[in-house]
Amino acid sequence: MEKTFLMVKPDGVQRNLIGEIVSRFEKKGFQLVGGKLMSIPQALAEEHYGEHKERPFFGELVDFITSGPVFAMVWEGENVIATARQMMGTTNPKDAAPGTIRGDFGVTVGKNIIHGSDSPASAEREIGLFFKEEELVEYAKLMNEWIN
Ligand code: PPS
Repeated sequence: MEKTFLMVKPDGVQRNLIGEIVSRFEKKGFQLVGGKLMSIPQALAEEHYGEHKERPFFGELVDFITSGPVFAMVWEGENVIATARQMMGTTNPKDAAPGTIRGDFGVTVGKNIIHGSDSPASAEREIGLFFKEEELVEYAKLMNEWIN
C-alpha cells in the first residue's frame, strides 16, 4: 500500500489545526501509520528542503519550518500521495480551492499550513528523513474493507 509523508507546519500547530487536519485524512479513508510532534533541527530542515537550496526564499523556508513544533505524519492508502496533495490544495493559498486545507485555512504562500510529499520518490526520502522504521506501525483496520 502506498505511503506518504505529511507535516502540519508551525503555523498549523500554533493555530490548533492538528486535529482538523488529521480528521480530514481519517475521514477520507486513509490510515495513520506514524506521527509525532517535534522540533525540526536546522540540519534536517536544510536536508528536507535541499532541492530548493538555490531559490530566493530558501532561508525564509528553513527559518519558518524550524520556528516552532511541527506534527510529522506517515499516512497509508491507495493513491495517498496524489490524493493528499489534492486535499492540501495548491502551494499558494490564494489560488487554493475552497474545501482544500490551504483553501480553507491558508492566506500567504510562506505560511501554508501543511507539507506533503509530491511523488513516490520524495515520499520514500522524506519518510526516511523523519521516521525510523520502528516508529511506523502496520495494523489492520476492518473499516478499510468498506473503503477499498
Ligand atoms: S511545490 O509544491 O514543491 O511545487 O511548491 P514550490 O513552489 O516549489 O515550493 C516549495 C516549497 O517552498 C515553499 N515556498 C515558499 N516559502 C516561503 N516564501 C515563498 N515565497 C515560497 N514559495 C514557495 C512552499 O510552501 C513549498 O513548501 P512545502 O513544504 O514543500 O509545501
